[in-house]
Amino acid sequence: MQHNLVFKVLDVLSDGKFHSGESIAKTFDISRVSIWNAIKKAEEFGVEIYSVRGRGYKLIQPIMLLKKPSIEQVMGEIHHWFNLEIFDVMDSTNSYLMEKASLGHPHASVAATHIQTKGRGRRGRSWQSALGESLTFSLLWRFNGGAATLSGLSLAVGVAIIRSLHRFGVLSAQLKWPNDVLVQDGPQYKKLAGILIELQGDMEGQSTAVIGIGINLNQVVFSENLPNPVSLRQITGKSFDGKNCAQELIGKLSNRYYELKENGFNNLHSSYLEHLYKKGDAVRLKKNAAAFIATIDTVTAQGELIITHGITESIQFGEIEWLK
Ligand code: BTN
Repeated sequence: MQHNLVFKVLDVLSDGKFHSGESIAKTFDISRVSIWNAIKKAEEFGVEIYSVRGRGYKLIQPIMLLKKPSIEQVMGEIHHWFNLEIFDVMDSTNSYLMEKASLGHPHASVAATHIQTKGRGRRGRSWQSALGESLTFSLLWRFNGGAATLSGLSLAVGVAIIRSLHRFGVLSAQLKWPNDVLVQDGPQYKKLAGILIELQGDMEGQSTAVIGIGINLNQVVFSENLPNPVSLRQITGKSFDGKNCAQELIGKLSNRYYELKENGFNNLHSSYLEHLYKKGDAVRLKKNAAAFIATIDTVTAQGELIITHGITESIQFGEIEWLK
């Protein structure tokens, strides 16, 4: 079964109306059995479809599929700056762009996919996304300034996402150091989006960053093994269109990229601190297998977390685990 056909059929069904197997088969000049197989495959991908004798197929929840022309249309003129690629299924948009980075893929390449089979998270975790309900994409940025320019990158990306969320009306968003995006849902903060940044190249001279973002848009249920996930829809009661979210995020990310390039992280530092989760509060952390309570003092302009637990210490990226 070709994925291509599954997505063509989903595209027909994406209007949320009934379509008979016969009419879909006619559209693509293939057999009804092929359409039935495509429907089964879509169900394996987690899409729920009504099948009613005499009427045909209908999506239980309308889904949004990303299309290059429609994303470019909402991006307007600036889409010419980007090399945008949309995939139906791939292992990981970060893995894809990391591989392409060494093969000379252009600066400002964006890869987005409907289904990510091996989505990767920070610290070796995996990242789950849902077809038509989450946005999964990566950007490839090339830098000249060496490691110093990149020290604030991961925090700057967090700030870009917070600013996009403000545009979507979500004002409670916070950044759990270094860059987990949390939003308030009742008394709790829950994870809305994750960022995975991978670097390649010469830290003194030219380097390339692949910035991967996964954001929960319209899920109403999550698999049980995920720690505290939440979607934009659960927070706002509205459903979100991937193309609008993609253009907003890509736009804000490129603004922050130029700001970082021109002025370094200094200008973004105060914005980051405004949204730092648990600033001034005591939290449970784990370092080298030892768990302890520490106060989150601040994050430096170089991106280090400063905590106090008897002593005050500065933590580099990735050396600490937050406990609930
Ligand atoms: C985390 O919170 O641990 C980071 C999650 C990052 C997930 C995104 S989804 C797009 C890109 N491709 C990947 O394989 N991972 C990132």
